[in-house]
Amino acid sequence: MAKIVSSWNDFDPLKRVIVGRADNSVIPPEEPATSEKVPIDSEMRGMWGLRPLETVEKANAQLDNLAKILEDRGVIVDRPTPLQWNQAIGTPDFRNDSMMTCMPPRDILLTIGNEIISAANSFRCRYFEYLAYWPLMNEYFEEDPEFLWTQAPRPRLTDKSYKHNYYDEKISLEERLERTANKDFVTTEIEPMWDAADVMRVGKDLFIQHGLTTNRKAMEWFKRYYPDLRVHAVNFPGDPYPIHIDATFVPLRPGLIINNPHRRLPEEQRKIFEANDWQIVDAAQPAHETPPPLCYSSVWLSMNCLVLDHKTVIVEASETNQLEQMDKLGMNVIPVPFRDAYPFGGGLHCSTADVYREGTCEDYFP
Ligand code: NVA
Repeated sequence: MAKIVSSWNDFDPLKRVIVGRADNSVIPPEEPATSEKVPIDSEMRGMWGLRPLETVEKANAQLDNLAKILEDRGVIVDRPTPLQWNQAIGTPDFRNDSMMTCMPPRDILLTIGNEIISAANSFRCRYFEYLAYWPLMNEYFEEDPEFLWTQAPRPRLTDKSYKHNYYDEKISLEERLERTANKDFVTTEIEPMWDAADVMRVGKDLFIQHGLTTNRKAMEWFKRYYPDLRVHAVNFPGDPYPIHIDATFVPLRPGLIINNPHRRLPEEQRKIFEANDWQIVDAAQPAHETPPPLCYSSVWLSMNCLVLDHKTVIVEASETNQLEQMDKLGMNVIPVPFRDAYPFGGGLHCSTADVYREGTCEDYFP
């Protein structure tokens, strides 16, 4: 019996990680929470179904390459078991014509210390995605006597979980930004809903983005579930589609965070970092003007990097500005091609989930 699961942050030395798989990925049909989150000018509006095989193969090649690079550096890499994602699903509360994918793992699994929690995602199409990780969870459970295998309270995702008529094609970018500033999002507060990728773990502190995929009740759930940790709600008013914190606010090592210059953390919320001598620097401009075809995410996947330890980081190979900035910030940079995986749910950080990093639960913001 060995210790397999432990991770308190995104920067201590990485020893074991899950890397997603693109097999059988689907563009899901529209449902109450998704239309709000597909940008208005996206070519994906109105389409759904299995993603083209050729794109799946290209994404898998880059995911496999990432896995190999990690293994060559001594990191143990685990992979999920994809389901036939184009099956219709149902619960007592809803029916959906399809699931989505097991990309990216970061949205589903949250590792805090020796616990991995499967999230309370708000997309109906992602309701059963956790099943792809269950074989791994079971393996960790059998081999690591301290591993806590946890499922967050499952949201019912009835129509009451969403604001109706929240989305309107005619809504302007300014209005969207106003909604973000007013913290007016598509999910209601009827039950806790959250994506794991909205949670930034920094030892004793969890910084959780309140946005389209995570509501306030989720923050309250975290506070009660982890009375020994500190939970901070964070907002990024410049983001018209606030989903997932890891193309917005990304820690590189203790004391250093890169922040998307279009989505700056408000002054009030910066105080805790400044008071503890943490530096928040603007991330470099993305090298690309548009995301690849059929991609949900923005060009800011440029900053969605995977930190291997306090001095080493993996950055997407074509993101020349970001590579250069990392170098200037004193990091050793490993460029890895990954743009073919972007359409499947995100960048290098998104596409992975921590299993084991060295280190313990530090108090960085006493
Ligand atoms: N909303 C984010 C997702 C990043 C993983 C973006 O597209 O910038």
